[in-house]
Amino acid sequence: MERILPFRFDERERVFWLLDQRKLPLEEIWVPVRTAREMAEAIRAMVVRGAPAIGVSAAYGMVLAHLRGEDLEEADRLLRQSRPTAVNLFYALDRMRPHWGNLAGSLKEAQALWREVEATERAISLHGAKVLRGQVLTHCNTGPLATGGYGTALGAIVEAHRQGRVSHVWVDETRPYLQGARLTAYELKKAGVPATLITDNMAGFLMAQGRVDAVIVGVDRMALNGDFANKIGTYTLAVLAHHHGIPFYAALPLSSVDPSLEGGQGIPIEERSSEEVLELRGVRLAPLGVAAYHPAFDITPHRYLTGIITEKGILYPPFDEALRDALGIS
Ligand code: MRU
Repeated sequence: MERILPFRFDERERVFWLLDQRKLPLEEIWVPVRTAREMAEAIRAMVVRGAPAIGVSAAYGMVLAHLRGEDLEEADRLLRQSRPTAVNLFYALDRMRPHWGNLAGSLKEAQALWREVEATERAISLHGAKVLRGQVLTHCNTGPLATGGYGTALGAIVEAHRQGRVSHVWVDETRPYLQGARLTAYELKKAGVPATLITDNMAGFLMAQGRVDAVIVGVDRMALNGDFANKIGTYTLAVLAHHHGIPFYAALPLSSVDPSLEGGQGIPIEERSSEEVLELRGVRLAPLGVAAYHPAFDITPHRYLTGIITEKGILYPPFDEALRDALGIS
């Protein structure tokens, strides 16, 4: 797969460059980030997005804080407040904390985190490819742009296509932010995988027609029982897949599991600006004065999952036992 990475670090210039995902696919614009404060704002504004990519970016945010002499406590606080749902942000910042005050150590840890993303996603792609076949449907964006590696769900799809198992991908456009239309369609096109864009409300009709063989999505935070938060619309897809007897998989690195949560009800769900629903790229859709609601994620109960694809293999029910086993906790 031709990988389009969401960031690069220029160590000499001490700048972390982000590919502005708000502008893709029409423009490829790189934004320089020089401080942790700027990184927190870039994550909040979704210049960079996707759970693993947010984690790596936050880690480099702490590296920048060291390089610019920012207050580390404040840098950590700003980064933690940037987006609430993806646990990777907090996982990465927890990993950086022991290296506070040590520039070389913090840089090494951020580089290690990034390398781990690549290694775990290579494994996830290979495991995931084994269970995908025919026509696959996916939601949001889980490719290299969302992770900095090979991608989770999309990595598995691309690998399954390379192996001749997957013939075609249905790409949910993913309202309101259009990660599917703008980013997944862009990545699949670059990877040479046949794909067709649909609006989110078309999935049920395609399933009823027998034109979806499997659904695979990414994860922003999973609880120990397998309940998980992912992009708004995932829950709807899970219920539809269950109704039609279609296998439904979630793909994630084990670092996206929050071991402090027994079930999904404790996952914080980000609520974003209603403007993102009322407008499309600055063009007003609804009458002035109309209210809009914008939860950015939803929670899918584990009972709808066929399997959980991790770097350690595919986990099957009972998920609480399988996840504890994979994480090495009792
Ligand atoms: O709001 P976003 O674009 O950051 O949401 C991204 C998703 O929901 C992805 O599915 C998730 O982060 C998994 S990425 C491998």
